[in-house]
Amino acid sequence: MPIQSGEPEGASTVGTRHPSFDFDFHGAALDTIFDDYEVMQRDCPVSWSDRYGGFWTITSYADVCAAEHDWDTFSVGPSMILPSFGTDRPLIPLDIDPPALTRFRQILLPFFTPQRMDTLLPRTREIAGQLLDDLAYGEVVDASPYARLLPAMVFGEYCGFPMADAGQFDRWVDDIVFARTDDESIARSAADDVYDYFRSLIALRRSEPGSDVISALLEADHAGGPLDDDEMLDICYLLFVAGLETTAGAIRVALWHLAQHPDELALLAADPSLIPAATEEFLRALSPVQAMARTLRLDTRIGDVQMRAGERVVLAFGAANRDPDVFECPYDVRIDRSPNPHVAFGIGAHRCLGSNLARREVNVALEEFIRRFPRFELAEPAPWHGVGRLAIRTLP
Ligand code: HEM
Repeated sequence: MPIQSGEPEGASTVGTRHPSFDFDFHGAALDTIFDDYEVMQRDCPVSWSDRYGGFWTITSYADVCAAEHDWDTFSVGPSMILPSFGTDRPLIPLDIDPPALTRFRQILLPFFTPQRMDTLLPRTREIAGQLLDDLAYGEVVDASPYARLLPAMVFGEYCGFPMADAGQFDRWVDDIVFARTDDESIARSAADDVYDYFRSLIALRRSEPGSDVISALLEADHAGGPLDDDEMLDICYLLFVAGLETTAGAIRVALWHLAQHPDELALLAADPSLIPAATEEFLRALSPVQAMARTLRLDTRIGDVQMRAGERVVLAFGAANRDPDVFECPYDVRIDRSPNPHVAFGIGAHRCLGSNLARREVNVALEEFIRRFPRFELAEPAPWHGVGRLAIRTLP
């Protein structure tokens, strides 16, 4: 539907907005989120939910993409994260609109190019092998530590996060990403600890530089001047919350799906060159990041739904990825789907900086896991989402 925006008309009016749908994209609500998308896309492609202070949700592929490209109307301030990751500081670059965004993207992009990420492949494979060695060789293994530790170790080493603290990282991520929707104070307390941690780490890397991203960011002579301590801190916080749990969720859900689809698992085991296309399909259909928020700068109309300046709008990437106007049989997982123009990494000015890394980590994680365990099945029911226990029974 065409998006029409006008001049700001001040703060929005309080009251019930129509159409309404009690949409949520966190916690247990994720159990049934795909059913919700089907209803919303059919009955109310733009709808209002009262949760988290109230927000509109956009569910069609065309509208999500249009909003992603229209940052004059759909601002990322005060934050793309709803509810917040326990902080009122801007996450850099996530919460910065163009044109200021350009400087940060120019600084960060060189660290995440496909060529640069290819250099991490041998180490990624080595770490995967070590983690698989450590998995208890019982009939039933919990694959969740494998899914969590692989990105933590690969990305942590690359960025310069001390791996001795990996256990603490998991606890902070749990508090910030997962506990925040039940109790915001847990996320705030963890966020304070993470900022303190990175303050110390940045000071250490300033005095004793290493061969990691944090040291390189501190040393480089960037266009527009060096990054100051506050900017460094906000970048580190974002990399920390964006780079670990997302990819862990992607690895875990791929294993979760394959554990229930022996025919697909057999295909990938017989021909690992099929894995990258399967990874794209898991990202499309079962993405760990289902939605991100924006705030309207202008009164805006989509179809016959009138939204007001100042209101939050959630771009439901997960719904866009299941839009029947774009994807044939969108509710089926087809591991050879092609083309697959999903928006699991976003599509506009803020398109995920870590997508090259995430794709390689998921591909290698699957290749190595399947090489070690060519046949496995789910040993206990487990939700598709999150990074929790995934009990897998390995088969002879
Ligand atoms: C499967 C794993 C991942 C998924 C599904 C994912 C998804 C996303 C999404 C949806 C966005 C916002 C896009 C938008 O609003 O337009 C984003 C932004 C971002 N992601 Fe990822 N991400 C993943 C992994 C990573 C990793 C490993 C990193 C590590 C570097 C990372 C770093 C970032 C950064 C820095 C941004 C902000 C970019 C900006 O604001 O300009 N992500 N990601």
